[in-house]
Amino acid sequence: MDAKHRIDIATPLLDWYDRHRRDLPWRAKAGETPDAYRVWLSEVMLQQTTVATVRPRFAEWVRRWPTFADLAAADEADVMAAWAGLGYYARARNLLAAARAIATEHGGELPDTEAALRALPGFGDYTAAAVAAIAFGRRAVVVDANVERVVARLFAIADPLPGGRKAIRAAAETITPDARAGDFAQAMMDLGSAICTPRRPRCLLCPLHHACAAQATGAPESYPVKKPNAPRPHRHGTIFWLEHDDAVLLVRRPDKGLLGGMRALPTGPWSDAPPGLAEAPAEADWRMIDRTVSHGFTHFTLDLAIAVARSDTLRNAGEWWPIARLDEAGLPTLFAKAADVVRREA
Ligand code: ADE
Repeated sequence: MDAKHRIDIATPLLDWYDRHRRDLPWRAKAGETPDAYRVWLSEVMLQQTTVATVRPRFAEWVRRWPTFADLAAADEADVMAAWAGLGYYARARNLLAAARAIATEHGGELPDTEAALRALPGFGDYTAAAVAAIAFGRRAVVVDANVERVVARLFAIADPLPGGRKAIRAAAETITPDARAGDFAQAMMDLGSAICTPRRPRCLLCPLHHACAAQATGAPESYPVKKPNAPRPHRHGTIFWLEHDDAVLLVRRPDKGLLGGMRALPTGPWSDAPPGLAEAPAEADWRMIDRTVSHGFTHFTLDLAIAVARSDTLRNAGEWWPIARLDEAGLPTLFAKAADVVRREA
């Protein structure tokens, strides 16, 4: 695409953004300088979670740790617990590692180029580009799922995902302007969220209607083209709920592996069929509850049976946590779901 077409997209899109931009707590108002800490944090939070979920969690987080230095000084266990429900814990671990690197190696400020950002923990293609553009106004090609959909439609890219991502990225490169790079990226995101929606795009309201190849086909919703999903395999395990008086046994999961380092209810091994009481944390009169909890991870769905028992002693390795205050334990969603089931049904 030539320079003229680049302007054809950026100009009407930025005009639309100036009128319709969402007011988001991490977003600088028009004319304000963005706060790099808030931009970075929001981009990491938004990678797996919706804007609606992130809003209150973001507010809570910046109240507790308002700057890189505050986060760098935080206790790892507190940071991990504060991340519960926001997706992979590796992201929280990387947030903390990056905040510490920024405090010790970068004088407390984020580096302001895509290349330098990439050297920090947790900065992949997307995060480095998004932060460089939004926090520092650098030209960068920022492609998240919303942008991917908008670009696939603008150019009617027929290669199915995931292979088609290369073509989408190349096309996004051709329309990214030199000026207002951060606004352009966020305008594409807002357009994807409000107008160029997955199922029923509102093409009549779209500022890029005139330039959209998918709209011209009459079936814009069929882009981006996707390969049919291979079914996700199921894995199975057992969660053990061991009570003594008004407390339940919690353990810390091994650092490596699923939910590494998190406080959790004890579990046995994952296997291809329900493993029953293998690796129960104590000899006890275990009873299986007639409900399982399921949780989707990237490569498999985990179905967990729940076994409950009372313990006569407090000898087990782990923490005995008051059941009435279990919400304060920062349990990952999977275990919080299991605890709800036990409290309702056991
Ligand atoms: N999704 C990811 N980053 C975003 C941002 N900066 N604005 C709106 N939606 C987003």
